[in-house]
Amino acid sequence: MTRAADWVARVGDVWADEWRRTERAFAGIAATLNAAIDRAAPSHGYAADVGCGAGSTALSLSVVRPGLRITGLDLSSSLIDVARRRAVAGRCDFQIGDAVAALPLLAPLDLLVSRHGVMFFADPVAAFGAMRDAVRVDAPLIFSCFRARAENDWATTIDQAIDAQPSMPAPLPALPAYAPGPFALADPAFITALLDRAGWRDVTLAAHDVDYVIGAGDDPVGDALSFCRRIGPAAAPLAAADPAVRADLENRLAAMLAPRIRDGAVTFTAAIWIVSARAGKEAS
Ligand SMILES: C[S@@+](CC[C@H](N)C(=O)[O-])C[C@H]1O[C@@H](n2cnc3c(N)ncnc32)[C@H](O)[C@@H]1O
Repeated sequence: MTRAADWVARVGDVWADEWRRTERAFAGIAATLNAAIDRAAPSHGYAADVGCGAGSTALSLSVVRPGLRITGLDLSSSLIDVARRRAVAGRCDFQIGDAVAALPLLAPLDLLVSRHGVMFFADPVAAFGAMRDAVRVDAPLIFSCFRARAENDWATTIDQAIDAQPSMPAPLPALPAYAPGPFALADPAFITALLDRAGWRDVTLAAHDVDYVIGAGDDPVGDALSFCRRIGPAAAPLAAADPAVRADLENRLAAMLAPRIRDGAVTFTAAIWIVSARAGKEAS
């Protein structure tokens, strides 16, 4: 299960290699999140994209809010390299670093956004508190994250196809309801309490189910298989298997993927939260 340290190294490098396909997978998430950001974003000021990856959310925001200056922050130097290559000269810049350490240097901010970049913090209370401290009072925070694994068939169906037991990260001793990883912020009551404790107010969560495309083109199943070898719940079991076992696992995946083709694409559903909040007067 992915943790912050993995993003600095191998996982960040894989996502940088695969940014076009992760972008395709996240297109439904992007459309929903970007619409929420568009409703809340100020026309001027300074914004940060936390865990910006290859920069898509920051870059989209720069198009709809030409008056905003935007910084994208990410742990992975490989992903920041991709984001910098994609950035047109102007209002977006991209920085390598831990958002929690870097945000104080950007303060005061007028907006914080994140597409699935806030589920990997080693200490989420400190992280959301640092985010609160980096913005002006009333500034919006808008982010997306996955709902429960059981609601995300791109994870459960792949697990079932290869009989994989999902590797569960260890919960934090000081915060047993939290274990960093893709499903760390699945529980709406936990998110609300966490943000409240960190000094955010007017917290709202909206549930959305959006398409999650993992294969397309001339050979959608082959494309999806190649994606599964690198990203998602099958990547580690496939990498660890010996060649004969791997061939069997891939056959089972292919048999599961073929019936998922819709309009020429292997399509699952991503069950997500769009979370919105505003900075309260003081972080606690
Ligand atoms: C699931 S990826 C999402 C990337 C990007 N927002 C997107 O939607 O394509 C999570 C990202 O969060 C970044 N990340 C995780 N913890 C971070 C931290 N403490 N500071 C900065 N970036 C972080 C990872 O490096 C990774 O790029």
